[in-house]
Amino acid sequence: MDPVPWREAWHEGLYAVGRGFYVTRGGPAAHFTTAAHGPTGKVLAEAVLALWAVEHGPVRPSVVVDVGAGRGELATHLARVLAATRPSKSPTRGVDGPGSGADPAPRTRVVAVDVVERPETLDERVEWLRSPGGAALPPGLTGLRDALVIAHEWLDVVPCTVAEVDADETARQVLVDPTTGAESLGAPLADDDRRWANTHWPTTTPGDRLEIGLDRDEAWADLVSRVDTGTLLAVDYGHTARTRPSRGTLTAYAGGELTTPVPDGSCDVTAHVAIDSLDADEVCTQREALKALGLTGAVPPHALAGSDPTAYLAALERASAEAHLLDRDGFGAFWWAVKHVRDTT
Ligand SMILES: C[S@@+](CC[C@H](N)C(=O)[O-])C[C@H]1O[C@@H](n2cnc3c(N)ncnc32)[C@H](O)[C@@H]1O
Repeated sequence: MDPVPWREAWHEGLYAVGRGFYVTRGGPAAHFTTAAHGPTGKVLAEAVLALWAVEHGPVRPSVVVDVGAGRGELATHLARVLAATRPSKSPTRGVDGPGSGADPAPRTRVVAVDVVERPETLDERVEWLRSPGGAALPPGLTGLRDALVIAHEWLDVVPCTVAEVDADETARQVLVDPTTGAESLGAPLADDDRRWANTHWPTTTPGDRLEIGLDRDEAWADLVSRVDTGTLLAVDYGHTARTRPSRGTLTAYAGGELTTPVPDGSCDVTAHVAIDSLDADEVCTQREALKALGLTGAVPPHALAGSDPTAYLAALERASAEAHLLDRDGFGAFWWAVKHVRDTT
């Protein structure tokens, strides 16, 4: 087949109707594990809600949206945590004034967004919205108020331009044969990609590869534009200006294994996110963010094992999940980009 720019081939490989990897090959959990799955997912859900409380106080979001939700794993954790901790009375909306307790607290909606139909077994408390995929978001996701929006490992699967600096020090698009993954060099970067590279990833070293973040920046900006008021959080593996990888990060996964990136629908294709080019108010590692929210990973006192073995085991499981999320060489190295959208009316 004729080689095409990675960006187009990548989009087809992941999202093409009837043959894209994410449309046809089962949920992400069938192929790899993320922090949204299992015990870490519950702790992550609690942390994300704690992040909301730091900015917005005790009043809960009216809606929590999980973009790139897989099969709703994190959304389900969020719905469970919200249900388990739901205040019986609203702290601010009582008809008799703040804290009167006269008004039942409104339920926080939880909406999961991904590219497939609603999974049959999804928790009934979670609403589902189908999305086109990649940089495109569903038209129905709009006008969100008092919204907490999470995009956990979404931006790394938003296809972007891949480039390589040639022997003449010119950054050129990398083309790929969609059936084999064989690469070749194409035209110099288009103006908007070149401008992005000059600003965020300047290099003229022959052989350097770049993953141009413009498509991720624009996808994120589109998501931000859907929120009238609230807080957005992108969590992803990535890099900043100090740590751009000179050989690129394009990688593929299928069936739990790392594999060669071939954009033919057989594998997930992903590349790290230039996290510091996103429009965000705060950028830090997940470890830093979770420590600021009070997570420690500390094991419970051994004496608890004798006095309350069930509580001890639960505390041990939680400590292990926290440690996993804080791990400098694992999930703790992920990046958090936080954006607040405040009411300006
Ligand atoms: C790497 S997986 C992460 C899944 C889940 N958030 C987790 O962390 O386990 C990326 C997910 O994003 C979804 N996705 C990609 N583009 C999307 C879009 N525009 N809207 C909604 N979901 C999207 C994919 O279908 C896939 O399920």
